[in-house]
Amino acid sequence: MPVDPPRSASGWGRIPRLTFGGDYNPEQWDPQVWKEDVRLMQEAGVNLVTLGVFAWSWIEPEQDRFDFSGMDQVVELLHSGGIRIDLATPSASPPPWFSENFPEALPMDQYGRRLRHGSRQAFCASSGAYRERTAMVVEQLAQRYAHHPAVVMWHVGNEFGGYNIHCYCPSSAAAFRSWLMHRHGSLEDLNQAWGTSFWSQRYSAWSQVYPPGSTPGRVNPAQQLDFYRFSSDAQLECYRAERDLISRYAPQTPVTTNFMAGTFKWVDYFRWAPEVDLVSNDHYLVAADPDNHIGLALSADLSRGLAAGRPWLLMEHSTSAVQWQPRNVAKRPGELLRNSLAHVARGSDGACFFQWRQSDSGVEKWHSAMLPHGGTATRNWREVKQLGAVLNAAAEVAGSTVEREVALLWDYESFWALEMDARPSVDMRYASEVSAWHRALWKQGVTCDIVSANMTAADLSSYRLVLVPSLYLMRQSTADALTAYTQAGGHVVVGPFSGVVDAQDRVLPGSYPGMLRDLLGLRIDEFLPLAENAAVALDDGSVGHFWTERVEARGATVEVTFTNGPAAGGPAVLHHRVGRGLVRYAATRFEAAALDGLLTRALDEAGCAPCVPGAGEGVEAVRRLNGERSWLFVLNHTDRPARIDCHGVDLLSGGEADGSFSLAPGGAAVIREQSAG
Ligand code: GAL
Repeated sequence: MPVDPPRSASGWGRIPRLTFGGDYNPEQWDPQVWKEDVRLMQEAGVNLVTLGVFAWSWIEPEQDRFDFSGMDQVVELLHSGGIRIDLATPSASPPPWFSENFPEALPMDQYGRRLRHGSRQAFCASSGAYRERTAMVVEQLAQRYAHHPAVVMWHVGNEFGGYNIHCYCPSSAAAFRSWLMHRHGSLEDLNQAWGTSFWSQRYSAWSQVYPPGSTPGRVNPAQQLDFYRFSSDAQLECYRAERDLISRYAPQTPVTTNFMAGTFKWVDYFRWAPEVDLVSNDHYLVAADPDNHIGLALSADLSRGLAAGRPWLLMEHSTSAVQWQPRNVAKRPGELLRNSLAHVARGSDGACFFQWRQSDSGVEKWHSAMLPHGGTATRNWREVKQLGAVLNAAAEVAGSTVEREVALLWDYESFWALEMDARPSVDMRYASEVSAWHRALWKQGVTCDIVSANMTAADLSSYRLVLVPSLYLMRQSTADALTAYTQAGGHVVVGPFSGVVDAQDRVLPGSYPGMLRDLLGLRIDEFLPLAENAAVALDDGSVGHFWTERVEARGATVEVTFTNGPAAGGPAVLHHRVGRGLVRYAATRFEAAALDGLLTRALDEAGCAPCVPGAGEGVEAVRRLNGERSWLFVLNHTDRPARIDCHGVDLLSGGEADGSFSLAPGGAAVIREQSAG
């Protein structure tokens, strides 16, 4: 199904920024609590709440019986308290009456088992009943609140696809067939695209085509890939239907839905981004990762890429621990502020949370909130109030963009294709390849946009360096864009196992990598993955892990050679001059230090400098720009004091930076910069 051109974005409209607030679920509480909520929101400096994300059974307790009395009161209370509303549609959690009355709308797993009610997202995105009932409740909401002055944004559903992305029920099968007819035109073309001559899979009627459920052996990869595309699109159709309904009543009010960029694999957010008025994103730290602030940066850099460089909004993160990881480690003092400012540094025009008041029952009662169980006499609350004051003090950065010179290509289809089964090695994982490259940049203090692999050469021309980690599936347009970009003087680094198959997971003809042979000036004779935990040595003293290739230079210059392993004596790193630019290829997964070295060389050659040279390990520095004005965000993730070179004034402490600025262990600053002269 085609994606419409971008909406005439109403952008941020009347949304206050920097935005500060969170999900507000008043239906969990007695009405007496609501007044206290608004008072404490004011005390903390909250300026926006997302209302009603899971409120369906509150506003439609029985089928066709709507009751907005509670929501009306809350809307008025918030309005009179000066708190703006991001009004959510409740479609992420249909009530029990829905499942009872429309059991065929419950999702089905790949083994053909219907899932039951009792959690959330208990629906099939292709169910007619789900779409009809959603439209009814959304229309009621839109009619009632579209013109309410407090409602400044609409929030459709919640984290689409999070729990129900792949449904295998009869409605999904029928919708999948229609989607395939639209994509492929004829059954003959589908047979061709899916390579069904293999294993006697030729279809002679559409009725034989199903989602790739549970099968005796491995499933056709092209069928899987199309099912993943379809599943993302089916959810997108649900979003679009709701959005269009809202826009009929509130055409001027921005509409969004919260993405899970960087942490959720199954929704192709690059297809979704043109459909929202502003990109909003949810991010939660992985407690077990000591460098989880780098994972945070990846999610933020991808959100900015989705927003095409414009400001986006951190819709959800946590004030402290979550409840859904094995060990839910609380944030350390100061971490909430650093996390929030890291998102703002990377382009979020605010910091919002799940959720305002910590629940006392249900699955999420052990998830932190802005107002914890212990109320205002808690460290958590004090830090929330501090954050409100900080965002207020830094409000002048709203609307600015982020300084960056490097693009890192990301592609959801390649992600899905690379991580399917029956690949050369289970160790080659897309997300970990991208993370390793992104981490190396983060450590260098270089900010990158994570952008769609479908960028044109013109889109890429604003970057000095383009990184292409393991882009296994590649379209001709991407190869053409990279070639034109390089010819025009751009620098590119390509990681192993890139440009190997087309959009149907079909190996490109001739030697590998079919899509990039000419650009890279090489051919690959054979992919040579290593045994578990094996490594190879290279002649520059570095080490490669789990993957090697037998590469022959065809115009490229060999820089580094494998000294042992199956590709011993052959090239491991090569570069190729193309037009006025340079492209480099790495045929293994380097250990971290060697990857740093490879990327440092590429950064130097491309003329890319860190945001603040010499900021020191573990000190994050990112700059936002607006015309002649600039702000330097500095976050000290270490337990040592840090010193950075800069001139200006810290919006947080009022401290002057006259050439250098010192930051306490764990400290944060937002320096309004003055030029050194
Ligand atoms: C998000 C979700 C919220 C809440 C939160 C807990 O994924 O949108 O509703 O469940 O996780 O971390």
